[in-house]
Amino acid sequence: MNIIIINGPNLNLLGKRETDVYGTTSFELFFEELKKKYPALNLSFFQSNIEGELIDKIQEVGFTYDGIIINAAAYTHTSIGIGDALKAIATPVIEVHISNTFSRETFRHQSFISPNAKGIIIGFGLKSYELAIQSFL
Ligand code: DQA
Repeated sequence: MNIIIINGPNLNLLGKRETDVYGTTSFELFFEELKKKYPALNLSFFQSNIEGELIDKIQEVGFTYDGIIINAAAYTHTSIGIGDALKAIATPVIEVHISNTFSRETFRHQSFISPNAKGIIIGFGLKSYELAIQSFL
């Protein structure tokens, strides 16, 4: 099963960035552990700070992969382009967030991803990604 995790802007700084909100583990380290835990899955990972690169990746995998797990980070709340790309593809999408966006500022309550996602997992730290993987099993 081919599953890709797509991370949006500033998530390359996980482990260093606002550690009270996002924790102290880098995504690279977490991803290595995840791959070990689910050896039967073909897990891949893509991160970009650039909206168009995220859209290109969604289009590239969106007709062949079995699942997309996306944390579009700040673009969640602003990007009609990413929302449209997710709507255009055939692969099922799970939206994840590390923090509980609904307990934070009101601008984080809106998502252009949610209407185009099969499901949403929010607020469980990095475990949100693992719960999303389990949803495909
Ligand atoms: C986030 C929440 C977003 O509001 C924020 O812009 C992020 C991370 C999360 O995973 O909690 O960068 O998507």
